[in-house]
Amino acid sequence: MLILGIETSCDETSASLIEVKNDKIKVLTNIVSSQVEKHAPFGGVVPSLAAREHVKNLPYVLKEALRNHQGNFDMAKIDLIAVTSGPGLISSLLVGTTFVKTLAYKYKKLIVGVNHMEGHIYSNWLKLTGKSPAFPALCLIVSGGHTQLILMTDHGKYKTIGQTVDDAAGEAFDKIARILELGYPGGPAIQVEAEKLETRDKGQGIKLPRPMINSKDYNFSFAGLKTAVLYKVRELTKKYPLEEIRSEIAYEAQEAIVDVLIQKTIRAAKESKIKSIMLSGGVSANKLLRQRLTEAGEKLEIPVFVPNPEYTTDNAAMIAAAGYFAIKNPARPAGGGKLKKEKGWKFVRADANWEIV
Ligand code: KG4
Ligand code: ZN
Repeated sequence: MLILGIETSCDETSASLIEVKNDKIKVLTNIVSSQVEKHAPFGGVVPSLAAREHVKNLPYVLKEALRNHQGNFDMAKIDLIAVTSGPGLISSLLVGTTFVKTLAYKYKKLIVGVNHMEGHIYSNWLKLTGKSPAFPALCLIVSGGHTQLILMTDHGKYKTIGQTVDDAAGEAFDKIARILELGYPGGPAIQVEAEKLETRDKGQGIKLPRPMINSKDYNFSFAGLKTAVLYKVRELTKKYPLEEIRSEIAYEAQEAIVDVLIQKTIRAAKESKIKSIMLSGGVSANKLLRQRLTEAGEKLEIPVFVPNPEYTTDNAAMIAAAGYFAIKNPARPAGGGKLKKEKGWKFVRADANWEIV
């Protein structure tokens, strides 16, 4: 089965072709056009600008995805088109869904609306070799807009057991990076800055809070950490230039975010009988988080799945993969909640707040 995926929920325009045989996925092409440079001067994503860029980029990204595979622009062999229909920026989602509905109408294709968070989960299936995650599985999704702990009992069956009560983990990275004048996106910049810290200085001076680390639920909170960084920077820059304290704060902020994520995930893993742990979302690119979660899983003897680095941030291959599993089982709604799949272009609708459960 040949599936075309389209992703435009935020500021990446992406098209991908995947081939599926016996539930094993081969990514043939995965083209991602990033708008990071366009949004960087504003310190975050500007929705109207993102939507305009998607309009401009989509035809090129699609052509590239098809051309790289087949040498020419040919829709004939495609069996299914999967498109992100929520959650995300409504203006960005509308561009992607309208584009795909037009394609589906013109070329008479089966079309499925995919939940973006479900797409992130399925980035763990984008591997040809090795085992796929076994159910029940615990998924930690950490992105710019979401931080969620989800119990996945089967394909398409999700239960959210915890989530952030304020900022998402990626948002915390981005906002802290802004305070540290490290630019956007903040996650990769903080990781690089933290790595600059000399080993001997690690864990020495600056201490930041680990919000809600010991709360009995599986929820998260990161807004207080951002404020703590702001006050710390204000206090310290009275004595030192920002350049002198930047690495130390970046290091400690990264430690604080990772500590909370790991502690909650591991407690959830111990308290629910699960067979695998999955990490996904843009923040899953973080080296420290990947390493700590893998080590913690080894101790518990539960396999930990992390996506290949190219599939951590937004991409259309993961959307195509989620679309495949959604359409395979017509008995259940794709992504839980409202049924978003149907033969024909009319039935896919953008929904900025589509919840996975
Ligand atoms: O999943 P994603 O690409 O977009 C959303 O759906 O939100 O996630 C983007 C987020 C940004 O907040 C970015 O700072 C963060 O992922 N991120 C990272 C790293 N790479 C990207 N955070 C920490 N460490 C990284 N290496
Ligand atoms: Zn995402």
